[in-house]
Amino acid sequence: MFMKTHIDADDGRQIEVLTMGPIGIAPAEKRKGYGKLLLDYSLEKAKALGFGAVLFEGNIGFYGKSGFDYARNFGIRYHDLEEGEDDSFFLCKELIPGTLSGVTGVYQTPQGYYVDPADAEAFDAGFPPKEKLKLPGQLFE
Ligand SMILES: CC(C)(COP(=O)(O)OP(=O)(O)OC[C@H]1O[C@@H](n2cnc3c(N)ncnc32)[C@H](O)[C@@H]1OP(=O)(O)O)[C@@H](O)C(=O)NCCC(=O)NCCS
Repeated sequence: MFMKTHIDADDGRQIEVLTMGPIGIAPAEKRKGYGKLLLDYSLEKAKALGFGAVLFEGNIGFYGKSGFDYARNFGIRYHDLEEGEDDSFFLCKELIPGTLSGVTGVYQTPQGYYVDPADAEAFDAGFPPKEKLKLPGQLFE
């Protein structure tokens, strides 16, 4: 899923960008190239729609293979992160080269990604109970 969001640029502009995720490949089919195929295909679609840059939280090991770099190298900071805190999860790719040239600022996660834990618990209560696990590589609880 892609969603529009923006960078609050230090010069006062709002730069429209995209965020993306989650993306998931069934465990038995991992490391066969499907994740990269799916990602690259969807990035081409986003570019064809005219979007210039995509930013999100992810693992450089996977996303780096599709041309993502640390967002800090584009001069973009993650919202609500103190100076000096680890920002190596925050990645960026220009779909249209030069989109972020001359832009520094703070990326904002779109409201649609924020979940109230109480709402999620209430939603989950409608399904048969499952054991809550934290798996290797998982970024969020
Ligand atoms: C991340 C995920 C989508 C990758 O899908 P995949 O189909 O296994 O990845 P691919 O086979 O296309 O891998 C493409 C490249 O990324 C690298 N890569 C894949 N998973 C990686 C990982 N967990 N860590 C480091 N590198 C990884 C591979 O080295 C591969 O390059 P190579 O072929 O040169 O070795 C999949 O592991 C997944 O569904 N994970 C759980 C959900 C998740 O964490 N999603 C991402 C955050 S939303």
